[in-house]
Amino acid sequence: MRSLQTSTHPKLPSFLAVFFLFLSTSYAQNILRRGSSLSVEDDSDILISPDKTFSCGFYGMGQNAYWFSIWFTNSRDRTVVWMANRDRPANGRGSRVSLRRDGAMVLTDVDGSIIWETNTTSTDARMAELLDTGNLVIKGPGDKILWQSFDSPTDTLLPNQLFTKSTNLISRLHGGSYASGYYSFFFDNDNVLRLKYDGPDISSIYWPIPYLDVFQNGRTNYNSSRIAVYDEMGHFVSSDRLQFIASDIGMSRIRRRLTMDYDGNLRLYSLNNDTGLWVTSWEALSQLCNVHGVCGRYTICVNTPEPKCSCPPGYEITERGNWNKGCKPLFNETLFQSQRVKFVELPHVDYYGFDLNYIQFSSIDSCRDLCVGDYRCKAFSYRLTGLRSCYTKNELFNGYQSPGFEGKIYLKLPVTVETSQTHYSQWH
Ligand SMILES: *[C@@H]1O[C@H](CO)[C@@H](O)[C@H](O)[C@H]1NC(C)=O
Ligand SMILES: *[C@@H]1O[C@H](CO)[C@@H](O)[C@H](O)[C@H]1NC(C)=O
Ligand SMILES: *[C@@H]1O[C@H](CO)[C@@H](O)[C@H](O)[C@H]1NC(C)=O
Ligand SMILES: *[C@@H]1O[C@H](CO)[C@@H](O)[C@H](O)[C@H]1NC(C)=O
Repeated sequence: MRSLQTSTHPKLPSFLAVFFLFLSTSYAQNILRRGSSLSVEDDSDILISPDKTFSCGFYGMGQNAYWFSIWFTNSRDRTVVWMANRDRPANGRGSRVSLRRDGAMVLTDVDGSIIWETNTTSTDARMAELLDTGNLVIKGPGDKILWQSFDSPTDTLLPNQLFTKSTNLISRLHGGSYASGYYSFFFDNDNVLRLKYDGPDISSIYWPIPYLDVFQNGRTNYNSSRIAVYDEMGHFVSSDRLQFIASDIGMSRIRRRLTMDYDGNLRLYSLNNDTGLWVTSWEALSQLCNVHGVCGRYTICVNTPEPKCSCPPGYEITERGNWNKGCKPLFNETLFQSQRVKFVELPHVDYYGFDLNYIQFSSIDSCRDLCVGDYRCKAFSYRLTGLRSCYTKNELFNGYQSPGFEGKIYLKLPVTVETSQTHYSQWH
């Protein structure tokens, strides 16, 4: 019914057009009263905000998987902005959301089991209401707000939705899934907004630039109020001094969303209301290889500008077609304990983190000796310029190659491993 726009269907008989118009006005309500419910089977069982921007109800995907959600009514792909039960979809039959007589809003599955509920049991909740802001609120007497979806965002923050110390945005796992993924946007313990990859193997912060300190990144850790918000115009401000503006700032009638995307980037989007498509109006990282976990272990990521993963010399892809699994050595790593080794030079490459040692004003020879003498060392990073920094690496994660990076990685390989590299130095 929602997709049938009466005005754009000139061939539709006029009595039908009137019928649909009647349906959409009579059922398009934004309130769920105490004691009533929305059923998964009935497509018209949805709440629509007064200005029609947002819809709230059961959102289905794939085979028999439904989520109690809020989405943009007019975006082409019905972009979801909030989900009650992202990690536990409900059955396509018999599931319902009720504002129970005891005051709690409850999502039940086909067998009656509770998938999700609000903390409003034993309150005098009167109704649930979907506001024009995209906020679903449970109100008591005197319009007192007892619960609101804005307090528990999933991967998206809407204009005027407060981002606080107790909220975070967690990405979806991948494009075809609404389950919680590995990337998050949050206020860290030191009051600074950060992006983190928290994957099966490793966990690491990749934004703001991890090798700069808070102030070099233009932030502060002194303000412990930990609060951030952006307005309809597209101006974001945070207590840690992060500020940014949308590239189309000032156009207040534009619909916006700030989303922690499953590729690890945080983006502000504007809805093009002619096409129903989203346009990026700000993003945290301009190069996706700076996101951690894009490619797996040992892998080197190159911005082409799309992120492209590859294996270093002496390594091969672990599982064809799945870069998340990274690369694996073509040799037995225990050889580092017994065999002679050589180092392959990889210019403009770095692997972030997992340092065994960090030494300033080191010579390249002493850096190499440090790595040779430690069987745990798989490579060392050396920068000739500046502080002549030497890092020996225990694990090789978050690898990337960038022309702007002045350091080099010297990859440790047993001498018996053949490499076709022209630039390499053989040591023992
Ligand atoms: C429910 O939890 C939210 C967020 O923790 C809180 O602000 C609200 O006061 C709670 N509501 C009730 C009725 O306890
Ligand atoms: C801390 O941040 C809040 C929110 O941005 C701001 O209102 C307040 O003035 C800041 N406090 C200080 C001491 O800077
Ligand atoms: C589309 O956006 C423009 C402003 O960018 C606004 O004036 C217009 O009302 C919008 N159209 C609809 C159908 O919302
Ligand atoms: C690596 O070498 C050690 C010692 O020679 C051996 O015990 C181990 O099984 C080897 N591992 C693999 C994966 O070949």
